[in-house]
Amino acid sequence: MNDKRKIEDEIDFKDLLRDPIRLYGWFYLIVFVIILLGGIYYVKHLDVITINSMPQVIIPVDSTKNIEVELKKGGVKPAMDLDLVKNPTPEFIAKGKELFVSTCSSCHGQDGKGNGPAGGALNPKPRNFHSKDGWVNGRSLFEMYKSINDGIKGTGMSAYEYLPPSDRIAIIQYIRTFTDFPKITDEEILMELDFTYNLSAGTATPNQIPVKMALDNIVDESKEILKKSSSIAEFIENDQSPEASLLKSVTSNLKRFMNVYIVALSKQDFDNFTQKLIYDPISLGLKSSAIRLSKTQLRSIYTYLGKVYQRKIS
Ligand code: HEC
Repeated sequence: MNDKRKIEDEIDFKDLLRDPIRLYGWFYLIVFVIILLGGIYYVKHLDVITINSMPQVIIPVDSTKNIEVELKKGGVKPAMDLDLVKNPTPEFIAKGKELFVSTCSSCHGQDGKGNGPAGGALNPKPRNFHSKDGWVNGRSLFEMYKSINDGIKGTGMSAYEYLPPSDRIAIIQYIRTFTDFPKITDEEILMELDFTYNLSAGTATPNQIPVKMALDNIVDESKEILKKSSSIAEFIENDQSPEASLLKSVTSNLKRFMNVYIVALSKQDFDNFTQKLIYDPISLGLKSSAIRLSKTQLRSIYTYLGKVYQRKIS
């Protein structure tokens, strides 16, 4: 009647339930076990696997080196060393000559006689620095500085604002070698030149200390503190006074406590002192019983430590 064969005819489901291996065969089971073992291995060795799969990088040699800095005292670096204004060095004057030749001689002439090639057509003529007559601003250092700073209106002499103060002074010092010029006084430098043009106002630079030196300082400092705290601890150890005995009765490590005292507690007022003691006595080298000290007892310990510390330090 019904030709169609049902799947049930082919497969005995009841039999499969009893023996599921028949459906997949042993092969499937083996693959499953391999995957499972692989998974366990992977999870167990996750650290190693991830480390090994990280790309290797070459660390540049320089980055492992400490960049050492020089020891430098900070402060205000003068834009212009005022000493050079009064007592120019030969190098400073030589620098002035160089600048004069490159910037000023086209008008004022190589030797400052006002006969430079570019000056011929000018009216008024460029100043002859060898002559004392006819100066508009004047021949003093301050007045020449002003001429360079502002120029002379309506003439070929323009303002040389771009020249840094020390270059201007160097040029003036060179010009002054041509002939006699008014003597430079301290008053002129300070009250006129520096007051008006603020030459000595410079940029502030912070102190700078090499890393190694800073570390050495810390080590030295802590050695020094260790030495002090040991000596104070020793003193207290031998002291039979009631205050010393009270202190010793609550300390578990006297040296350590004195160390903390020197570094942190000696500068505290009484309230801060007690607060710090009570907050964490154990790590300060005290016994936990220290928190049960009365205010009077704390006060006498505080005064006692202050006295011993003062005596030992000075
Ligand atoms: C373009 C030409 C020119 C150049 C370049 C020049 N000067 Fe002058 N300078 C003049 C002239 C012109 C005068 C005369 C102005 C006057 O008599 O009023 C003068 C005058 C002066 C004076 C005298 C100011 C006074 O009190 O009478 C000084 C100082 C001076 N120059 C310095 C310099 C210096 C320093 C430089 C270079 C940085 C320089 N000059 C470059 C043309 C020039």
